[in-house]
Amino acid sequence: MLKGNTIDLVVLERSQLPILHEWFNDVDFVGEFEPFDQDSLAGLEKWFDGMTGSQSFLIQKKDGAPIGTISYFKSKDCTAIGYMLAPQERGKGYGTEVVQMMVDYLFLHKDIVRIQAETHPGNLGSQRVLEKVGFSKEGIIRRSFFSRGVYRDTAMWSILREEWKEPKILPIGYRKP
Ligand SMILES: CC(C)(COP(=O)(O)OP(=O)(O)OC[C@H]1O[C@@H](n2cnc3c(N)ncnc32)[C@H](O)[C@@H]1OP(=O)(O)O)[C@@H](O)C(=O)NCCC(=O)NCCS
Repeated sequence: MLKGNTIDLVVLERSQLPILHEWFNDVDFVGEFEPFDQDSLAGLEKWFDGMTGSQSFLIQKKDGAPIGTISYFKSKDCTAIGYMLAPQERGKGYGTEVVQMMVDYLFLHKDIVRIQAETHPGNLGSQRVLEKVGFSKEGIIRRSFFSRGVYRDTAMWSILREEWKEPKILPIGYRKP
């Protein structure tokens, strides 16, 4: 478990996939910007069993209540992240905390130089979260995915290891030399 200030991150177990199944098939949970692809529980289990180089976490409040999910995964030679919070838990600072925790985790424990996140240019909340954690906007990938009846642009954001400098939430786990 990764312990944050107001939330914890717990590696997603196969037995917890019904929670994701409910969330991902709920248009309010997915929000107005992410693709709303329907999937069966069996489909999610197949995805889970085939995961390589990626990991999903449940975001939990300190009382153990699950409020969302965050993942990291390979995108070519880069590491990318994706995240979602339950509608009633948005706007309370959890988004900023969970992205900071994931950035701390990845730069502390994985030998990588860059983390990227793709978001719809109209997703102001997600982009503000990325900005607050130290990501920079690299540009717009035009008409790069199809969702809700139209081709949409994607904004590419990234943070480099040297821009992160040091963890803001997670402990280093050893004394600095
Ligand atoms: C995007 C998301 C993770 C943001 O998390 P959150 O917990 O609501 O964000 P925070 O409370 O940490 O807010 C961080 C900042 O963003 C701002 N913000 C949050 N939602 C906003 C919105 N809808 N419009 C404009 N600004 C917003 C906050 O005011 C805050 O800025 P400030 O500190 O300068 O005041 C959450 O809204 C969500 O899960 N959305 C649906 C799924 C999704 O879009 N995931 C991201 C895909 S790329």
